[in-house]
Amino acid sequence: MKTVVITGSARGLGFNMARFFREYNYNVVISDLKEENLIEAKSELEKFNSKGEIIYKVCDVSKLSDLEELMKYTINNFKEVDIWINNAGVNQPQKAVWELSEQEINTLIDVDLKGTVYGSKVAMEEMVKHKHGAIYNVEGYGSNNAHMLGLNMYGTSKRAVTHFTESLALECEEKKTGIIVGKLSPGIMITKFTTHSLVDNKIELSEKTKKVYNILGDTPETVGKFLVDRMVNNTNNNVKINWLTNRKAFLRFLTAGFNKRDFFKED
Ligand SMILES: NC(=O)c1ccc[n+]([C@@H]2O[C@H](COP(=O)([O-])OP(=O)(O)OC[C@H]3O[C@@H](n4cnc5c(N)ncnc54)[C@H](O)[C@@H]3O)[C@@H](O)[C@H]2O)c1
Repeated sequence: MKTVVITGSARGLGFNMARFFREYNYNVVISDLKEENLIEAKSELEKFNSKGEIIYKVCDVSKLSDLEELMKYTINNFKEVDIWINNAGVNQPQKAVWELSEQEINTLIDVDLKGTVYGSKVAMEEMVKHKHGAIYNVEGYGSNNAHMLGLNMYGTSKRAVTHFTESLALECEEKKTGIIVGKLSPGIMITKFTTHSLVDNKIELSEKTKKVYNILGDTPETVGKFLVDRMVNNTNNNVKINWLTNRKAFLRFLTAGFNKRDFFKED
């Protein structure tokens, strides 16, 4: 039985990827900041039939030692890791960079960038022993060098994640490790991430932003399924698994007049 580890998987995209890995009968290791959220997520995931097991471990990705413990726990339970996904991420308050506090700047870099670097390091150290495994890092706004007021530190981190992941893929190739490294590009998903910054502070979205999200956005279920289907079948290093292609975005705008989706409707 194969095993996948996903950081930041008590909700959102991470949770939904865990769900679809269950359909492929993977053993799934979910991890996040709070135990109570993991317990709830585990019991939700158990509702989806699978031959694989689910276990959870609290892990703050900004701490290397937490990630090392997560790996240790996984190996103790399942012996080997086939896929490791650095998914945990935080959004930033919609402010210019000089309006952010030192702590806000640090959290964005520590979680979005360093969490990915630490997670990849821990996964690589284990995978090179077996010459087997795949690591996927989640891109985001800024990965393609887009810029926007209020997304400077997030975009800086995600652009760095893209550079880091491509460099890691090259390192794997040159050192003939046999490990696959890839990028996951989820487009825009309507999750707590979209509506909250730095884990749980609510963001007031403008009507214009909501309109764009209604055209280009998707649920994490839709995107999670797409990404998992491709990860389980991928055999290539340095891939980008891209949900919202330019063509898809163009078609979405073209057909926006017929689009009746409203992710923000109050019930
Ligand atoms: N939602 C979008 O539109 C969107 C678009 C592009 C990329 N992304 C990326 O996708 C990934 C998942 O986002 P999401 O939309 O599911 O967000 P989400 O907020 O729903 O889920 C993120 C999860 O990460 C966890 N987390 C936060 N800090 C952590 C830490 N220090 N250690 C461990 N876990 C931590 C949160 O508790 C949460 O469960 C992130 O990397 C995000 O940057 C999201």
